[in-house]
Amino acid sequence: MRVLLLGSGGREHALAWKISQSSQLDKLYIAPGNAGTKEHGTNVNLNITDFPAMKEFVLEHKINMVVVGPEDPLVEGIYDFFVNDSELANVPVIGPSKAAAQLEGSKDFAKQFMMRHNIPTAKYATFTKNTLKEGYDFLDSMKAPYVLKADGLAAGKGVLIIDDVKEAKKELKSMLSDGKFGKAGKQVVIEQFLKGIELSMFVITDGDSYKILPEAKDYKRIGEGDTGLNTGGMGAVSPVPFADNTFKDKIENQIIIPTVKGLKAEGLVYKGFIFFGLIQVKGEPYVIEYNCRMGDPETEVVIPRLKSDILDLFEGVASNTLSERDIQFDDRSAATIMMVSGGYPEEYQKGKVIYGLNAINGSLVFHAGTLADGPTVLSAGGRVLAVTSLGKTLDLALEKSYGNIQNIEFENAFYRKDIGKDVLV
Ligand code: AMP
Ligand code: GLY
Repeated sequence: MRVLLLGSGGREHALAWKISQSSQLDKLYIAPGNAGTKEHGTNVNLNITDFPAMKEFVLEHKINMVVVGPEDPLVEGIYDFFVNDSELANVPVIGPSKAAAQLEGSKDFAKQFMMRHNIPTAKYATFTKNTLKEGYDFLDSMKAPYVLKADGLAAGKGVLIIDDVKEAKKELKSMLSDGKFGKAGKQVVIEQFLKGIELSMFVITDGDSYKILPEAKDYKRIGEGDTGLNTGGMGAVSPVPFADNTFKDKIENQIIIPTVKGLKAEGLVYKGFIFFGLIQVKGEPYVIEYNCRMGDPETEVVIPRLKSDILDLFEGVASNTLSERDIQFDDRSAATIMMVSGGYPEEYQKGKVIYGLNAINGSLVFHAGTLADGPTVLSAGGRVLAVTSLGKTLDLALEKSYGNIQNIEFENAFYRKDIGKDVLV
């Protein structure tokens, strides 16, 4: 099989690493990829939302499957572009249709979907510029803290959690009337604040059946003890010790099954990963958000725990035979620690030489934001490297990653020293 993988982060390096181990792989291209992905295939300089350019590449290189890492191409309709083009229709895209990708692309769409299918989530209402006044009244009727969400994609920055009602009204107005977050903020979802502990669940589906992947917990804040600004994710662990079988059963029955069935019942074509961002409140699971792709850095702990051939699963997705495919997981725990550029998630410098990548023993280093300059690897993003380890226990996995990370250096590098500490049992 000749595969084109889209994306350039740690998630895509982990996927490229796994795809490259498949017995069914003939050739892997990654667009645009990074210094890590090029060890597993050929990086190609394609804009991943330029679908006509992608078509040309796919035909020229006889690609048999497109695997989509990030949400943008999905929300912009890459699935539909392929299905509706007679020359591309036989090249499966692993990902949802444009309509189904609205689960991530519109928070209001996701909320309405959950309401229709009785999927547990925070109470909410949606407002526009024309209903700003009703939005203020709604805020007055709620208790602090106030959760405001820009409806559309806002690169992870569209959720505001505010203690003061006056401040919340000001932010609501700046989103709806003053264009904060641009188009993404034309509608705002205001929802009840849920207090609990978060985790992420992942499913792969062909639209009929599904397979549940290992769960993970992501650490979103820049600072230790979950303080400071939100980031793309500073580390992750899998499994998540507090997610016992009873809790996971509830997630499957109350959330996963109604989601997969609901998509099918509504004719929302979905052939890819579903990411459930969940929160546990008094032992019960609630959906905080859906994403139409895998998580990053969650992929860097979930995929190393997958023992099965990932292209076999993708073929099952493409041909609607996922239920016949076998899926096996590694029982060991996985931990990943993200090394980021100094200053991230605010302004940071790129182009720093990374030393020590050859001094790693027993961990996997997934590149998140790197660039190859001949044999030299340079930092090229806020999140730079994810250092993943497997261990008999989570403690051992963490110890291995924290041991190896000390051998890697670049100017002003930073990483959190407390990943996984809150869930160790
Ligand atoms: P999202 O972009 O929807 O994942 O939201 C970003 C983060 O905001 C989540 O990971 C949660 O930590 C927090 N959050 C979102 N919605 C709620 C809610 N209803 N209650 C409490 N925290 C929330
Ligand atoms: N780590 C969260 C995300 O990928 O959205």
